[in-house]
Amino acid sequence: MPPPGLVGRVKALVLIGGFGTRLRPITYTVPKQLIPIAGKPVLYHVFDLIPPDIEEVVLATGYKSEVIEAYVRSHPPPWPVRLVAESEPLGTGGGMKNAGAGMSDPFYLLNSDVIAAADLGALRALHEHRGGVGTMALAEVEDTRPYGVAALGPDDRIEAFVEKPEPADAPSHWINAGFAIWAASVLERVPGGRPVSFEREVVPGLLSEGLFGFRLSRYWDDAGTPERILRSQQLLFDDARGGRAGLPAGALGSGPVAAAKGVRARGASFGKYVTLGEDVTVEPGAHIENSILMDGVYVEKEAMVLSSILGPRVRVRTGHRVAGQTLGEAVEA
Ligand code: GTP
Repeated sequence: MPPPGLVGRVKALVLIGGFGTRLRPITYTVPKQLIPIAGKPVLYHVFDLIPPDIEEVVLATGYKSEVIEAYVRSHPPPWPVRLVAESEPLGTGGGMKNAGAGMSDPFYLLNSDVIAAADLGALRALHEHRGGVGTMALAEVEDTRPYGVAALGPDDRIEAFVEKPEPADAPSHWINAGFAIWAASVLERVPGGRPVSFEREVVPGLLSEGLFGFRLSRYWDDAGTPERILRSQQLLFDDARGGRAGLPAGALGSGPVAAAKGVRARGASFGKYVTLGEDVTVEPGAHIENSILMDGVYVEKEAMVLSSILGPRVRVRTGHRVAGQTLGEAVEA
């Protein structure tokens, strides 16, 4: 149920078109949104933020659209979903424009690579209360360099918005958390037919129409780099969003381990924070800790995998040690 005072169901637009360059080589074959964290893909942690009474969710896809589509079809979310694919990358604004026909007023906009505890119903309620053209969720971070940074005035009105500033130029530590609610009219402000960065080209021009911040008070992380993915995984496990966490049958150690179907790990040992994809095998005497092993990974006996992300069908040889690595599909280590 929407909070009192809110009427009408709204739609959501999810941006899923980026290349995920910071997660290569895994993202050469797997879009970053499908990397499993604490037992399920990043994208599905984003889906968890979307209220169940949503009218429709539009996925603006591009890079590896067919892989996303196949996964979403086989793991249907609880609301109507529609994919609109870009034939060439249009950037965040171009993706919104391309997929935004028929959006509700207002509509939610979500990036597909953030991990957060947040209540979108409360975001909407605040937006309806304050008015203006949009309300953007903001997270407080130490290092603002990779993000869009907001200068906040009274009532958390965003008075300036600087994309990826040098530290000396950052107006605060409050950054664009990757989800917001916008009036449908903002779509008319995005130039059509070419790539557009919404944050750089459109948002600054919207400030005079009233853009407000919604400060997140619990956790937030950007699952865009290997270190941040592993940190996000810890946050999710610690918040008990790790799905079927425990230990695989016959395994030793502490866990938590989120294991998909077909995992074989009898006699292997596990430290904290591990995701095992489908049909992963970990032989006896091997040890895994703080890592993500995607579908079909095979770890031979006495090997060790620490703080690493292993792409599908990676094989770790007997006695080998993999630490702090991101390995692409089918690599042998
Ligand atoms: P990096 O290359 O590692 O920075 O990742 P990225 O390409 O995903 O870029 P970034 O993290 O800045 O993207 C922010 C959000 O916008 C993510 O949810 C992306 O999937 C999405 N996005 C980025 N570029 C496009 C695009 O061209 N089209 C669409 N539809 N979405 C995009």
